[in-house]
Amino acid sequence: MIKKLGIYVGQYKKFIVIVPFVVLIDVLCELSMPLLMSRIIDIGIPESDIGFITRIGLIMVGLALVAIAGGITNMWLTSRGSMGYGANLRDALFEKLQSFSFKNIDQFSTASLVTRLTNDVNNLQQTFMMSLRILLRAPMMLIVSFFLAYSINAELSIVLAVAIPVLVVFVILILKAAVTRFGVMQEKIDAINRVIQENLIGIRVVKAFVREDFEIKKFQTANNDFTESAIRAINIAILSMPVMMFVLNGATIAVLWLGGGMVMDGRLGTGELISFTSYIMQIMMSVMMITMVMIMGARAEASARRVIEVLDTEVDIAEKIAEEGGSDSIQSPRVTAGKVEFRQVSFKYNLNDPYGNILCDVNFTANPGDVIGIVGGTGSGKSTLISLIPRLYDTTEGQVLVDGVDVRDYPLESLREAIGVVLQKNILFTGTIKENLLWGNETATQVEIEEACRAAQIHEFIVSQPNGYETLLEQGGVNISGGQKQRLSIARAMLKKPRILILDDSTSAVDSATEARIRKAFYKELSEITVFIIAQRISSVREANKILVLDDGQIVGMGTHKELLQQNNVYQEILASQREGVMSHA
Ligand SMILES: Nc1ncnc2c1ncn2[C@@H]1O[C@H](COP(=O)(O)OP(=O)(O)OP(=O)(O)O)[C@@H](O)[C@H]1O
Ligand SMILES: [Mg+2]
Repeated sequence: MIKKLGIYVGQYKKFIVIVPFVVLIDVLCELSMPLLMSRIIDIGIPESDIGFITRIGLIMVGLALVAIAGGITNMWLTSRGSMGYGANLRDALFEKLQSFSFKNIDQFSTASLVTRLTNDVNNLQQTFMMSLRILLRAPMMLIVSFFLAYSINAELSIVLAVAIPVLVVFVILILKAAVTRFGVMQEKIDAINRVIQENLIGIRVVKAFVREDFEIKKFQTANNDFTESAIRAINIAILSMPVMMFVLNGATIAVLWLGGGMVMDGRLGTGELISFTSYIMQIMMSVMMITMVMIMGARAEASARRVIEVLDTEVDIAEKIAEEGGSDSIQSPRVTAGKVEFRQVSFKYNLNDPYGNILCDVNFTANPGDVIGIVGGTGSGKSTLISLIPRLYDTTEGQVLVDGVDVRDYPLESLREAIGVVLQKNILFTGTIKENLLWGNETATQVEIEEACRAAQIHEFIVSQPNGYETLLEQGGVNISGGQKQRLSIARAMLKKPRILILDDSTSAVDSATEARIRKAFYKELSEITVFIIAQRISSVREANKILVLDDGQIVGMGTHKELLQQNNVYQEILASQREGVMSHA
């Protein structure tokens, strides 16, 4: 586990390798203090030698300064190293996320991914820093102190032989309990993030339905759960303190009692006894420090596991690996015309669900230049169907072909580059309108941008804004209407100049007259590419070359508006229901 995460230290290794030397200097300086002190007490004071005392005192000041400098350097090095480490780790995680398929993301849930990239990485970064500071220093302190204590008086050191094993046993017991509790705590943080995220994404709905109280209760539950699990975990850490202090003080008393006798017998100097006690303190402190780091490590272990889980996830929509002989020897296919063919396609989101078929035996062909309409009730599988074309998901059975080649045989990037999608849920990004449009095609000229916006019937609106194309969209476009967002998304997709254009219910928030104008522009400008239009309103697709009627994941009708009107029951029903709707409005 450490090895797997260790590689992300990367270029910061140079900071880390110096740390042990700095620590060693620091330790040696600090530990020579008690020795010097004992010389003052045992030699300087009884002989009233002021010169001697001053000299030793000055040496002590010098050593203290060196120790301080060492300590500061150590802090600086470990901070730099661990911050850099955290940054590397986050970069690696984010890069991995970009390769995730929708299915991968569904599996983790976005909330959990956010926690993993922030909180869990912070934990690891913090632990890394503390281990650098303490895991080197404490053992060095321990060993050197032990050596010095032993050299002062071997007999007295026996106290340690009892105290240290007692401490170690406690430490192991505490660690065992801590690991599981910290794991639970991390999961509760996920839950809190999930509630916050869902609430913020849906804040408008929450307010419209006056569900604030309900949401507050939901949050309180998650928050209480977390607090309780945190308290349970922290209790362990708290419990460890008095236990350790007890052992520490017990050892000191034992030393004073045994050592006091020796001083009276004249076998030990008073100064020696004092310095011996401070070494014992150092030893016990070191053991305690190591314990603390281990408890932190236990907590970090849960985080480490969660981070590694992300790094190790197999991306299920993977590029086909080029056959042996290198990628140059075989020409990777490219989308040229934009013909789309579904061959006996079945699909389920969850492979383990026996009844989960969302699409069932779908067959059809769409030729370049065709406008394909897709209609069907909600939940009939329309969005699912089109998501198979850019490989947002892979088919469960059957094949999706573009220009006669299985979509799985294209490099993902070249496949997706050839397909423009306006998804049912439009997402714009914080930035200017122009920046958002350029997402489709970074090299588009102003003329091309305006052309696409005219076709999508949004140009007029944009130029009516004080800042025109430089108008700022705040937080993904909260400051424009749903219909405007949809039209911007259409323009963005058109700018890409795709071979295949998919519009998933993308004019639902646009009024009929504007929609008709958009459609007209489409038929005029997109005469060579394949266009899929998913629509709720039959009027949106009546001019299409081919209309697919979807019902419960199956194609139950295919043909032109006229043909379907004559032969297809489901189509007639949809149309009839929309007429009724119109009538009842009138
Ligand atoms: N990510 C997902 N995981 C599991 N099931 C899903 C997922 N997305 C959709 N479904 C299920 O697949 C079925 C078809 O959904 P789909 O979104 O394709 O319907 P649709 O025809 O586009 O509906 P609408 O007209 O409301 O947009 C639904 O029953 C839905 O519950
Ligand atoms: Mg849909």
